[in-house]
Amino acid sequence: MKKLKDRIYWVGANDWEVRYFHGYELSTHRGTTYNAYLIKDEKNVLIDTVWEPLTENFLERLKEVIDIKEIDYVVINHAEPDHSGALPVIMEYCPNAIIVASKNGEESIKRHYHKEWNIKVVKTGDKLNIGKNDLIFVEAPMLHWPDSMFAYLTGENILFSNDAFGQHFASSGIFNDEVDETEVYQEALKYYANILTPFSKLVTKKIEELKSLNLPVDMIAPSHGVIWRENPMRIVEKYYEWASGKSDNSVVIFYNSMWGATKKMAEHIGDGLDKVGVSYKIYNVATADKNDVLTEIFKSKGIICGSSTVNNGILGSLAPVLEEMQGLKFIDKVGASFGSYGWSGESPKVLEDFLKKAKVEIIQDNIKFKYIPNEAELVECIEFGKAFGNKILSESEK
Ligand code: FEO
Repeated sequence: MKKLKDRIYWVGANDWEVRYFHGYELSTHRGTTYNAYLIKDEKNVLIDTVWEPLTENFLERLKEVIDIKEIDYVVINHAEPDHSGALPVIMEYCPNAIIVASKNGEESIKRHYHKEWNIKVVKTGDKLNIGKNDLIFVEAPMLHWPDSMFAYLTGENILFSNDAFGQHFASSGIFNDEVDETEVYQEALKYYANILTPFSKLVTKKIEELKSLNLPVDMIAPSHGVIWRENPMRIVEKYYEWASGKSDNSVVIFYNSMWGATKKMAEHIGDGLDKVGVSYKIYNVATADKNDVLTEIFKSKGIICGSSTVNNGILGSLAPVLEEMQGLKFIDKVGASFGSYGWSGESPKVLEDFLKKAKVEIIQDNIKFKYIPNEAELVECIEFGKAFGNKILSESEK
């Protein structure tokens, strides 16, 4: 039995196996959890449920702490199936329970399950007395779905934040002080970079709104990963920082290469960056994990992208990263492109067009060489890297 505080229980499920998160095509190297919580007060409140295939696991945990038919309220902070999947089973156990959701949540629940359940719609600032304590609701539309909502438990000072502040991280411990925090922060960053970046302005506003409410926070209990118990506001500050779009002065070079010439160019461009003191990472997208590359792009100021030319275009394995960059709307990035070719040589130009669509400012003419670059051309690649690195450094001094 896992407890947050007296009479407040974690009743979620660990998913140790998932390596590719459902609809999001998101890699989850460390598995995940679907967190649900039970509050026992004069009224018994379930906060969220779990992904449907883990229902049995969830029910077993729930039955350890309550007779399920005694649940009075089911707060659905967000109806995406990874959190509401077990709702139909719960409602069979306690058909008279009241579901609490935002206005958009009501629609989302109805459109997902097509049932005549009793739904109480709440808005920001609404309070639900459950006995000794109250639940206060804060709508968080588009963080990351229209229905998203937070629930705050007075007295115990716990913010149930659903996906916000979560991490795909399965573990035996349920608190941040029981696990390796370096791993947890890496997963929280990856979650932010790959899911929340397009909504950064809303994240900033929501954090400011939460701070203005002056609610004491002992714990932040998200719907994935560990609960922030030790220094819970640190993840909020991290979100504030990530939402600002501030990147470090590093560069990501990502490429694919048909016979190794573009790879050679990538490595020499990296040498050039290093010579002027700019750190970089290189990813061959044919072997790298797409979401890890996107996480590094999120962190870095400079993006240099390379491809061999094939059929007047680029190698297809680059497209998923370039495509997602557009949707994620990274801000304040600068870029350039390069590539080897055999006869037509369009790839650097095609890459530039992709980068521009992703709002990356092209700060340098592209570089391309026919078949295998010779020694002099490799020196040009080094110079290309040096020039790009110097521009990054001078931008940072502005
Ligand atoms: Fe974890 Fe938006 O569901």
